[in-house]
Amino acid sequence: MTHPRRILVTSALPYINGVKHLGNLAGSMLPADVYSRMMRLLGHDVTYICATDEHGTPAELAAQAAGVSVQDYCDEQYEIQRAAGEGFNLSFDWFGRTSRPANHALTQHLAQALESQGLIEERTSKQVYSVDDGRFLPDRYVEGTCPTCGYEKARGDQCDNCGRLLDPVDLINPYSAVSGGRNIEIRDTNHLYLLQTRMQDRIREWVNSKGANWPSLAVSIANKWLDEGLIARAITRDLSWGVKVTDPDGNLRPGFEDKVFYVWFDAPIGYISATQEWAEANGKDWEALWKTDKGADEVEYVQFMGKDNVAFHTVSFPVTLLGCGEPWKTVDKLKAFNWVTWYGGKFSTSMKRGVFMDQALSLLPSDYWRWYLIANAPEGSDAAFTWEGFQSAVNSDLANVLGNFVNRITKYCVSKFDGQVPANGTPGEAEAWMTAELKERLPRLIEYYEAMEFRKAAAETRAIWAAGNEYLTKAEPWVKYKSDVDAAAVGVRAGLNLAALFGIIAQPIIPDAAKKILDALGIPEEHRKMPGAAPDTDFAALLDALPHGMAISAPDVLFQKIEDEQVAEWTERFGGGN
Ligand code: MF3
Ligand code: ZN
Repeated sequence: MTHPRRILVTSALPYINGVKHLGNLAGSMLPADVYSRMMRLLGHDVTYICATDEHGTPAELAAQAAGVSVQDYCDEQYEIQRAAGEGFNLSFDWFGRTSRPANHALTQHLAQALESQGLIEERTSKQVYSVDDGRFLPDRYVEGTCPTCGYEKARGDQCDNCGRLLDPVDLINPYSAVSGGRNIEIRDTNHLYLLQTRMQDRIREWVNSKGANWPSLAVSIANKWLDEGLIARAITRDLSWGVKVTDPDGNLRPGFEDKVFYVWFDAPIGYISATQEWAEANGKDWEALWKTDKGADEVEYVQFMGKDNVAFHTVSFPVTLLGCGEPWKTVDKLKAFNWVTWYGGKFSTSMKRGVFMDQALSLLPSDYWRWYLIANAPEGSDAAFTWEGFQSAVNSDLANVLGNFVNRITKYCVSKFDGQVPANGTPGEAEAWMTAELKERLPRLIEYYEAMEFRKAAAETRAIWAAGNEYLTKAEPWVKYKSDVDAAAVGVRAGLNLAALFGIIAQPIIPDAAKKILDALGIPEEHRKMPGAAPDTDFAALLDALPHGMAISAPDVLFQKIEDEQVAEWTERFGGGN
C-alpha cells in the first residue's frame, strides 16, 4: 500500500478591510479550493488553510472611518468574510485570523529566533511625525506628492499612480491621512531591521533548488529582487494595532512600547499559526505539516497568490523561515495569478465597477461564478470579466453541455426504463469510442490539475461532457428503442454512468451541482472519488459501474440560463463595457 500524499495548501490571506471582489477570489482562494478538492478526490491527505490578514494601517484606517474600535471592526469583517467564503463553498480546513493569540506568540518567537541568529538589528531611522496628531505616521497614515511621478495623493508606502514602493519620508508636501494636518516633522526613532542582506546567498540557493516547480512568473520576480540585492528591511511600525514587540520573557521591548511588527512580517506567519489553531481544535499534529524534523519534509506545500504577493512569498517569508535557525517547511509549489479585470479596468466599489463576493451570491448560486472564474482563470495574462462572457459560459457550458445531458438521460430512463439502471444489451462501437475518449481525457484532466493549469482543467472537463453528448448522438437510444429495446438499454446504461462520471469530475469546480447530480443518481459517498489516475484503470468499466436495476431519479433543473434582460439589468447596476 502506498501512503497518501500529504498536501498542505494555503491561499494568500485576504486583508480584513472589506469583502473581496471576484478578482481577488479568482486569484487565490478559489483556485486553491478547486485544487484542494481535486487532490482530496484523488485520495490525498489535504489540509487547506487560510485566514484574514488583520494588522496594518488599512485595518486601523477603515475602523476609524467606520467610527468603531479596530477590534470590533475586525470581528465584524471577519464574520462577513467567513460567511462569503462559506457561500462560495471554499473548503478551508481552517479559516483563522492573524490577530489571534497563536499568531502573536509565533511572530514574537520567530523575531526573537531571528535576533539570536544575528539577523535583527535595532536601528535609528527617520520617520514622519505629525505634530497635530501627536504621533508617527507610518505607511498609509501619510500621503503626499510622489517623488517619481508627481501624483499628489501618493500613499506613504506606495504610489497608486506609478506603482513605485515608497518610504513615507520620500513624499513631497506630506500630510496626515488621519487629520489632514500639514504640520509634519521628520523625527528619529528606533525600529527593528531584518538583515536580509545576510541571507542573499542562502535565498538564491533556495530559489534555485525550488524554482523548478514554480511558474516562470514567480521565478523571475524572485530573481529580480535577488539581482537588485536584498536590503535590510524595517519590520516594526509606529502603530498600536498589531503584534507587540517583546523579549523572550514576554516583556515589552524597551523603546518599543508604542510599536508593533509590520503587517507583512506577521501575515505569512499566519499560515503556520492558523494551522496550529486547526490542529488544536481538531486533535491534529501541526508540526507534521510545518517542521521538517517532524515529518514535514514529506509534505507537498502549495501556495496560491496574486502576482503582487510573489516577492513576499519567495524572498521575505523564506528569510524568516530559513534565517531563524529552526527546521521550518518552506513552499514547494507556488501558483501565482495575474489580475481579473472588470472589462479591462479596475474593480472599484466607489465607481460602481465590478461585483463583490457577497453581491455575487445574491444574484446567482456560487457554482455559476466558480465555473466562469476557473474557466477564465487569469493564468497567462490578465483576464477580463464581462457579463457577456459570463452569460455564455453559464448558458453553453453548464446549462447546455452538462445540464441537458444529465436531464435528458435521467428523464428518459425514468420514462422508458422505470427509473432503473437497465441490465440488458451488449456494448458496441459507440461505447468503444466513448471508452477511448475517457482513456485519453481523464488522465489528461488529472495532469492539468497536478500542474495547476486551471483553464485547461476546466476546458478538459467541458470536453469530456461534450464527448458524452456526442456519444448519445452516436448511440441514439431513443431511435433504437423503437426496434430494439436491448440496444437502447446499452445507451441508457452508459449514459447514466456518464452522468455520474460527469458529476464526479465536476465536483472540484461546481460542487453544489455535482452533488445534485450524484444524489439524484444515488451514488454513495465512497464512490465519488476521481477515477483514471491508476495506470491499470479499466476505462470500459466506467460505462457500466452502476449496479443494474438500481433506482435513479432525474435531478431538478441544474442550471437556469442567464437571460439578456438580466445581463442588461446587472450591467446597469454593477457597470459594464460602455
Ligand atoms: N493580505 C495580503 C494581500 O491581500 C496577502 C497576505 S499573504 C500572507 O495582498 F502571506 F501574508 F499571508
Ligand atoms: Zn508615482
